[in-house]
Amino acid sequence: MQATLITGASSGVGRDVARRLARMGHPVIAVARRRELLDSLVAEIGDAGGRAHAQACDVTDPGAVREAVQKGEATLGPIQRLVAIAGGGRKTPARDLRASDFESIFRVNVMGTVNCIEAVLPAMLERRCGHIVTMGSLAGYRGLPAVGAYSAAKAAVHNLSESLRLELRGTGIDVTLVTPGFIRTKPHKARKPFQVELERAAERICGAILLRRPYCAFPMPLAFASGVARCLPHPVYGWLARSLWRGRKG
Ligand SMILES: NC(=O)c1ccc[n+]([C@@H]2O[C@H](COP(=O)([O-])OP(=O)(O)OC[C@H]3O[C@@H](n4cnc5c(N)ncnc54)[C@H](OP(=O)(O)O)[C@@H]3O)[C@@H](O)[C@H]2O)c1
Repeated sequence: MQATLITGASSGVGRDVARRLARMGHPVIAVARRRELLDSLVAEIGDAGGRAHAQACDVTDPGAVREAVQKGEATLGPIQRLVAIAGGGRKTPARDLRASDFESIFRVNVMGTVNCIEAVLPAMLERRCGHIVTMGSLAGYRGLPAVGAYSAAKAAVHNLSESLRLELRGTGIDVTLVTPGFIRTKPHKARKPFQVELERAAERICGAILLRRPYCAFPMPLAFASGVARCLPHPVYGWLARSLWRGRKG
């Protein structure tokens, strides 16, 4: 069986997806910066009878990503699937806007994803088979207040994924775009609206990956609302988003 390279595998969603895919018999190349967390994941997968390889790597460094791919393939064989989950964001309010915050959020979410695609796509095209899975967010459907950098970065991931899917049609390579709402990765933190438990989220994502679905958006109520918001005329969306935001700020 060919390998799956998963970025963001040291914690949260990526770690749970890696664990699940390995349990289902898929050899996993686990990528992130925190080596000790990757090692504990590989040990856990090995104890459960699966195959995994840890590769510490910063996805914003294209050379490091290429090296991770080479070393991963030398251990577990050709990469048949890339699951680019590494990413994240924080608040970037307009009144305290800093270009450096935008740069770091874009570097990991957008360029981190692009660096990984660049490292695996040529071989997939040569073999005429492969699967690229990208991690967007419902926060990227339209501009949201106070998280401009994250919202814009995820919108870039969405458009990148759609462009690739259109262009790669007929090449044997599928593209899956995952767009979740809030996922409960840190149980000690306050709950957010329609938040999905980590295990349930990973299950949804793995289901979509294995079926090679083009899109995976959840939870349903928030995905539906975000889809409707995308179609609203600008003034209506502006009024609605501002009202909800003021309501949340109290
Ligand atoms: N949680 C949510 O509610 C939610 C909702 C929608 C979408 N998402 C998306 O889902 C993904 C995972 O989020 P999460 O909540 O599971 O966050 P998390 O627990 O903070 O995990 C982020 C992962 O990305 C890795 N990472 C970050 N920067 C990296 C870099 N420069 N190079 C390599 N790896 C890097 C981290 O590993 P190291 O620190 O070890 O490098 C970690 O494994 C993100 O793309 C996020 O935007 C999350």
